[in-house]
Amino acid sequence: MTQALYRRWRSQDFDEVVGQEHVTQTLRNALRDGRVAHAYLFSGPRGTGKTSTARILAKALNCSAPEDRRPCNQCPTCIAINEGRMIDLIEIDAASNNSVDDIRELRDKVGFRPSEGQYKIYIIDEVHMLSGPAFNALLKTLEEPPPHARFILATTEPHKIPATVLSRCQRFDFRRIPANEIVAHLRHIVDEEHFQAEEEALVAIARSAQGCMRDAISLLDQMFSFGAETVTLAQVQQVLGSVSAEAVSGLVEALAGRDIPGGLRLVQQLVLDGSSLNEFCHQVVEHLRGVMLLQMARDPALLDDLPGETVRQMQAQAQRLDLPATIYAVKRFSEAAAQLKGGYQPQLPLELALIEAVQGPPVSPAPGAHAASAATHPAAAMPAANAAPAAQPAAEAKSGAAAAASPTQKPGEAAPLDPAAIEKLRRRWKEFSAIVRDRCGIRVQAALNTVRDIAVSDQSVALAFGNNAFTHELIARPETHAQVTAILSDFLGRPVLLECQMGDQARLAHRIAAAPERSAGGEDPLVTYAKEALGAQVVDGSEPAL
Ligand SMILES: Nc1ncnc2c1ncn2[C@@H]1O[C@H](COP(=O)(O)OP(=O)(O)O)[C@@H](O)[C@H]1O
Ligand SMILES: [Mg+2]
Ligand SMILES: [Zn+2]
Repeated sequence: MTQALYRRWRSQDFDEVVGQEHVTQTLRNALRDGRVAHAYLFSGPRGTGKTSTARILAKALNCSAPEDRRPCNQCPTCIAINEGRMIDLIEIDAASNNSVDDIRELRDKVGFRPSEGQYKIYIIDEVHMLSGPAFNALLKTLEEPPPHARFILATTEPHKIPATVLSRCQRFDFRRIPANEIVAHLRHIVDEEHFQAEEEALVAIARSAQGCMRDAISLLDQMFSFGAETVTLAQVQQVLGSVSAEAVSGLVEALAGRDIPGGLRLVQQLVLDGSSLNEFCHQVVEHLRGVMLLQMARDPALLDDLPGETVRQMQAQAQRLDLPATIYAVKRFSEAAAQLKGGYQPQLPLELALIEAVQGPPVSPAPGAHAASAATHPAAAMPAANAAPAAQPAAEAKSGAAAAASPTQKPGEAAPLDPAAIEKLRRRWKEFSAIVRDRCGIRVQAALNTVRDIAVSDQSVALAFGNNAFTHELIARPETHAQVTAILSDFLGRPVLLECQMGDQARLAHRIAAAPERSAGGEDPLVTYAKEALGAQVVDGSEPAL
């Protein structure tokens, strides 16, 4: 069996460690000046070069070439280390040797002089896995190291290392390697191995590796093993199970065109295709981030690691969306990515994100929308329909309850509003929303958070769901409607009836509707979609949270 590509391509010299110049340059200087520390801690994500650099340092310490040319990779010591047969280089995997006995054994032997080189070098990988007593034993060794011993500790989780140990080490943080540097390194490997690869394929590999060079090289290896003449973008996407850029751009296109049914169909198709919704969601966020950058900076150079076609799409979308809408969409899809856990109704967070993103940030009662002006003008954040009545002097509005009973008022006329109750619901929306979540689950909560406007009279509460037939439907379902009505009544301290409405402005007719209106009716493609594609399960508020 041939050696894995990432092993064959292990960096052998400081020059070959990509993207960690801040570490390698400092180590070189220390070697040149004979100031190599007794103990180092290399921290950072996996596959970024910690072990490789530790071995390069070990070679350099024992290399017989002149200081400024170490490691030479030619002398017997360098060759022995490269071939993994150097006795004075001891590598310990703390993940599997984490007991105090393992470290005691190390301590007992550390005093013996090196047999070949000048230094005995210990590389302790995944050092955060050591047990408490093992750390104590290690600390004793680090406090009084024999002059011929050097320690290199490596970890992906530096916060788990005791401060006493940290204080004995010089620390280097390895960073995630930028995508363009990974691409360049992959290109180098492809050329040296006499393979062919599309530039965009390498970009896709680099991006999916998220700064981890090992993953990038492994994926490239896998692509080579396909045996095709040229590694193509399509192959990479296939291997990654990644949704095509087309689907991602398509969703953002639906967002820009405010085409909810189209977007929902696209999500449904992904589910049917068995695509990874999580991956999709992340890519949507990344795409939207590109759109956002273009809106802010108008500089396509910011996105020069993306395919030209994608950048052109983003530019067009940047024109059609406005910046606040894009920012809100980025937030909503990031949240959805965190909520997507698969299992029951796996696509719901994604669907809600789409719907809410199309509708834009909730004007009211947005959690956190406690602008100072809103406190003095309760209706300030409300759209016009309610702003008008609520803008009346408070006394007049307060007398609303009495006016409601007035025989002069005709049925169908607007009912007097209760600004205090509106204000209460708006200011304490988070609290209300949390109660809903407790009693009805996160889906009902999320649906309620799409409400665009509220109106409250002494007898009823109207919630306007914008053009979101999907969430309107969800709340209007009899069982959920009853639950939400009960919670609202509790919350306001008096029995109220709940009206779910479409449109951006909640209106309270004086006559109280027993059942919520359905302005969209069954004809709305969204309602049809909600019924047919999502089924009754979606609207069952008593289900456990997602
Ligand atoms: N910074 C880097 N530059 C070049 N190759 C790297 C780099 N980091 C990792 N690699 C590749 O990944 C493999 C594993 O790297 P390694 O040094 O063991 O990472 P770590 O110890 O940080 O997990 C190496 O053999 C090499 O092929
Ligand atoms: Mg390692
Ligand atoms: Zn050498």
